[in-house]
Amino acid sequence: MIESSHDRGVQVIELSRPDKKNAFTGAMYHQLREALVAADADQSVSVILLTGAGNAFSAGNDLEDFLNSPPESVDAPPFRFLNALAQVKKPVLAAVNGLAVGIGATMLFHCDLVFAQDSARFSFPFVALGLIPEGASSLLLPRLVGHQRASEILLLGDPLSANEARAIGLVNRVIAEQPVLDFALAQAIRLTQLPQGAVLRTKALLKHPDEVLGRINLEAEAFVMRAKSSAAQEAFAAFVEKRKPNFAGLD
Ligand code: COA
Repeated sequence: MIESSHDRGVQVIELSRPDKKNAFTGAMYHQLREALVAADADQSVSVILLTGAGNAFSAGNDLEDFLNSPPESVDAPPFRFLNALAQVKKPVLAAVNGLAVGIGATMLFHCDLVFAQDSARFSFPFVALGLIPEGASSLLLPRLVGHQRASEILLLGDPLSANEARAIGLVNRVIAEQPVLDFALAQAIRLTQLPQGAVLRTKALLKHPDEVLGRINLEAEAFVMRAKSSAAQEAFAAFVEKRKPNFAGLD
């Protein structure tokens, strides 16, 4: 479900559950976290590149998993993964090859360069699922776009096209002429050829880990409460049963 391979100093980590649009299971969060920690510690790796198998980047958390076993604490697999991603010292690049939904989109706030296929879409449907945004997106998205635009994206949840994501600064470049992974790999290799001490120090200076980790945790506390709510449980059940949710009387 997580495929990791080494190419010229770049660790390419692929979310690989294409029949479910690379939706995350608990095991996938665990494997991805381990792959990130291993790549960060591996002297032969200079850059980490994340991508998805098939035509999606990731459809976010598996909603059937959320229905059957909602996260119980701030140490649940999604939050442990986000904590690890936010603390990676080496550059993390993303080649967003298709849909990026929920945590599949919020994880991009912790990547250093994000490239998107022109067909990619970015969606933050937390509120419509009875949830709240995670991954420090309630801090990092307003920083990119201001309060009103962030409210529109997080409350109404309308998806962004690849070009809209580039316009707000979530994406560096939209790639139409070639597979986004090829373009991203070429940029990753450029980074491997730069003085590594300077690369690592620059990334460290650009990041504000204490603030970000604090927000990941704060959101996780609220997320755990919301995931158990009657509205969220109705939303997850409706997805699994392939019907529209009925939130009447639910909070
Ligand atoms: N959890 C569990 N299964 C998921 C999933 C998710 N988050 N996203 C997609 N899948 C499954 C679908 O149930 C379907 O399974 P099936 O073939 O066994 O029926 C398969 O992946 C393909 O998805 P499908 O909905 O047929 O593809 P699509 O191209 O029409 O739509 C999405 C793709 C991502 C827009 C749609 O699947 C979706 O809205 N998924 C939920 C996204 C979401 O809300 N994520 C959680 C955010 S917190």
